[in-house]
Amino acid sequence: MELRILSRAARETEAIAEGLGKLLTPPFVVALYGELGAGKTTFIRGLARGIGIDQVRSPTFTLINRYEGRYVLYHVDLYRIDDEDEIYHLGLTELFEDPNAITVIEWADKGYPYLPDERLDIYFELSSDVNPDERWIHLKPFGSKAEYIVKLMG
Ligand SMILES: Nc1ncnc2c1ncn2[C@@H]1O[C@H](COP(=O)(O)OP(=O)(O)OP(=O)(O)O)[C@@H](O)[C@H]1O
Ligand SMILES: [Mg+2]
Repeated sequence: MELRILSRAARETEAIAEGLGKLLTPPFVVALYGELGAGKTTFIRGLARGIGIDQVRSPTFTLINRYEGRYVLYHVDLYRIDDEDEIYHLGLTELFEDPNAITVIEWADKGYPYLPDERLDIYFELSSDVNPDERWIHLKPFGSKAEYIVKLMG
């Protein structure tokens, strides 16, 4: 089941993401897609709070940040990656295979071939010219665990 949620403000996006964070258990991978300023980091801030993590840095130069709350959360941002070789050297596969971690990836399209088959894809779209704060958040699960979580959110 796919789910589309309309968010009308940044704090709504955070609240939706916090709800998701409360449902997640490791191992789990969340892949985020959407243009600059679409709300990916805002979403991760909420998701982290749902895991019991308060401080999310914006990983401008560090491509991978590690946080600890109830679980370990890896925050990956592939924005600065230009070719797939660089991704290979990041060791993403190790993160994805960590049984004790949740991994969330901004600009996941840049690492698409490396993403695991079982994951939750989330697309962020600006929804309206009238209200610049509106976003569609589109959740697309792959695999039974992600399916189950999206069902709980719906
Ligand atoms: N409904 C909304 N959901 C999320 N962010 C919103 C919303 N409305 C307004 N905003 C604002 O849009 C901006 C989103 O920035 P954010 O850093 O989360 O985007 P991003 O997708 O991570 O961008 P980048 O690709 O540059 O990392 C923030 O300034 C936030 O306050
Ligand atoms: Mg960001």
